[in-house]
Amino acid sequence: MSHPAGVARHCRLPHEDFGPAWTSIKLDDGVRERLLAQALLSLTVRQKLRFEVAPLHGLILLAGVPGTGKTTLARGLANQIAKRIPDTNATFVEIDPHALISSALGRSQQAVAKLFEETIPEIAMDGVGLVLLDEVETLAVSRHRLSLEANPVDVHRATDAALAGMDRLTREHRNVLLIATTNFPEALDAAVISRADHIEEIGLPNGAARREIIADTLNAIGGVWKRVKALEAQADRLAEAAKGLDGRRIRKGIFAAMASDIDTAKDPNRLTVLQIESTFRHALTVLKGTTNESTA
Ligand SMILES: Nc1ncnc2c1ncn2[C@@H]1O[C@H](COP(=O)(O)OP(=O)(O)OP(=O)(O)O)[C@@H](O)[C@H]1O
Ligand SMILES: [Mg+2]
Repeated sequence: MSHPAGVARHCRLPHEDFGPAWTSIKLDDGVRERLLAQALLSLTVRQKLRFEVAPLHGLILLAGVPGTGKTTLARGLANQIAKRIPDTNATFVEIDPHALISSALGRSQQAVAKLFEETIPEIAMDGVGLVLLDEVETLAVSRHRLSLEANPVDVHRATDAALAGMDRLTREHRNVLLIATTNFPEALDAAVISRADHIEEIGLPNGAARREIIADTLNAIGGVWKRVKALEAQADRLAEAAKGLDGRRIRKGIFAAMASDIDTAKDPNRLTVLQIESTFRHALTVLKGTTNESTA
């Protein structure tokens, strides 16, 4: 199915594809509750009170380092909101910011304006529109940090158009809620941050979350290769070894361990705790190297 320019996908919610997104990300239940409460409140208040009294922009921002589950959680949140408003149609729209500022598309400013002023309101015309603005910093690059030499004027204009568009969209369409994610809040325009009704910092998984991620992954693998299930008993030890890794890296690490050698790759039943610990250690070393480089 083709989508309008700048839209990665859109569909009605609740949608079965989105169900696991909410539960597969392991974090404090408090975070989920807070996000859902904030989102529902923002939608309700904005439909009942004037902006001058209740300056809510209908923007929720999830910020945190890469691989911590922000995008997945944002999709899950949209789905949960839809479930809590059963008598109202809910439409999900995922914006593709890269397409918007790509040079191939050109004329970014107009493209951005059209997206916010026409495309999204049209898609989300009936009921509630839940809009995912993933990696919002690419769209709203801090004007502060942009140097005219390194970045085409077009990007500046696109940033202005994005800010104006977001403002107008949520002011004129109080049935629209924007859920934005960023793994680079320093690059994000301060105006976007100040517009957010709620900013949730999604951190690296703590011990309990790491344990759950590991157990969940081993359990899934164990559904196919039965002997892997036994490793779940070692989840505490593995959670300790994974300290400092993000959720994506932890899940990937277990699969990387399955490729430790050809025998294990051919028969994942042979996977051992030592192999997983070793891949976690390796991932931590690589991570340390890249952090040192970037701060050097
Ligand atoms: N806390 C977590 N619990 C369980 N799984 C996690 C967690 N964090 C990340 N993951 C895993 O990593 C995958 C990727 O997460 P996602 O793409 O949502 O992260 P992100 O924060 O948006 O990353 P980026 O900033 O790089 O876009 C998820 O689908 C999930 O499998
Ligand atoms: Mg993401």
